[in-house]
Amino acid sequence: KKTDDQILVIFGASGDLTERKLIPAVFDLYCGGFLPEHFAVTGVSRSEYSDEAYRQKVVFENEFILKKEAGEDKLKAFADAIFYQPLDTKNTDSYNTLKQRLQTIDEAKGICGNYIFYLATPPSLYETIAEGLSHVGLNKAENAWRRLIIEKPFGYDLESAKQLNSKLLACFDEEQLYRIDHYLGKETVQNMFVTRFANSIFEPLWNRNYIHRVEITAAESVGLEKRGGYYDSAGALRDMVQNHLFQLVALVAMEPPVKADAESIRNEKMKVFQSLRPYTKEDIKTNVIRGQYLGSKVRGEDLPGYREEEGVKEGSKTETYVAMKFFIDNWRWGGVPFYIRTGKRLPTRVTEVVIHFKPNHHHLFAHDKSLSNAHNTLVIRIQPNEGILLKFDMKIPGAGFRTETVNMDFHYDELTDVYVPGAYERLILDCMQGDATLYSRGDSTESAWQFVDTILKAWEEDDIPVYGYPAGTWGPEHADNLIEGENMTWRYPC
Ligand code: BG6
Repeated sequence: KKTDDQILVIFGASGDLTERKLIPAVFDLYCGGFLPEHFAVTGVSRSEYSDEAYRQKVVFENEFILKKEAGEDKLKAFADAIFYQPLDTKNTDSYNTLKQRLQTIDEAKGICGNYIFYLATPPSLYETIAEGLSHVGLNKAENAWRRLIIEKPFGYDLESAKQLNSKLLACFDEEQLYRIDHYLGKETVQNMFVTRFANSIFEPLWNRNYIHRVEITAAESVGLEKRGGYYDSAGALRDMVQNHLFQLVALVAMEPPVKADAESIRNEKMKVFQSLRPYTKEDIKTNVIRGQYLGSKVRGEDLPGYREEEGVKEGSKTETYVAMKFFIDNWRWGGVPFYIRTGKRLPTRVTEVVIHFKPNHHHLFAHDKSLSNAHNTLVIRIQPNEGILLKFDMKIPGAGFRTETVNMDFHYDELTDVYVPGAYERLILDCMQGDATLYSRGDSTESAWQFVDTILKAWEEDDIPVYGYPAGTWGPEHADNLIEGENMTWRYPC
């Protein structure tokens, strides 16, 4: 695809995300030869830096760039494309200064007016910045395009997400808005789409007739990582479920789109969100389990409890774990339970989607109950150890018909000659090329919020417990009771 000449303007340029993810991603694009001939990055934030001092910070002294060991020449050439402009987001005049600065950089580099504005700031500034840009006419251009990337969290609940959408849409058109969800940039997440729709063996089975249940886990072993202030007002439901996990649900559950383009795919995902069976308050009590980690000794290390973490309010009830069971009421999925869970301070870091197929109707080899009852399972490992695992029964050699479950296991790292781009690298390039397929559309963001909002409201009423779980375990025991049925549990990946 063609990548036009352009300037990437990053708001929140002195922040953590810019240094850890955004500049390194652009650097990878540069090293891979994906940047257009005429290109610049302009960092914008409140702090005062000269261009030189900013280059020093985000390139020459940035550990996430240095560890790539690209060599001094590459670093210098890359740094030449980086500029910095201080700006007070609340002062409308300073957007004029920004506009002039962009024009100067634009002319010097011969870029012709295409700009991406990337909002990597606290969410409270999103509306202010969009309005500031629009106030000085940076939101539109006659013979060039303007795009706006908005980081998560997109809204705090349904009401604020709607309000944010309408404020942004007052300044930009929907086609200009790129709501980022970095899970969609993960190669293995995109591969789910290919696994389903490029192969003829899965899709015919991908429905209520053959699938018993779907399970999605996004476990993290880390705790708050100095993000207590943000996390304590968010919690796992807002931080992981409303966005990342629901995006995975949509990719597992969507109908085949008419075309592999942004509108067709996003239309189908939207229908999944519209088909989520709404919870009643009673459903929430039994089908949504929230938990919070407690201090514990893990592999010889004393880990603090959530309430002892920096930035967490005393007696906080914020959940660091959520498990839930829900249904998608449509023709394909009627009656198939979806189980999803996510948490911090769990035993390991793993994200996976597990499709549990129904057992055979007739157990031909049922003389040994423990062996004959195996369900076929397809495990899509999103991270780490990316790949796909299919479990099925084979005959144990020798007399009789004894069976055993075996694995057919594909690991991405076996494709050694294939470069797997990072999520931000992929997503930024897509936006540079005007492809919004892997970004969330406003209506589906609101639909996902609508479902989550009912849970948030029920929790606010405060008669639903927050269960404690020791750091380093798989969350509250109550979550096990969500999955009902003989010999059925969550899958516990090691
Ligand atoms: C972020 C959340 O969006 O995703 C973090 O805010 C979480 O709390 C992170 O740790 C997980 O991302 P990944 O790519 O490490 O699975």
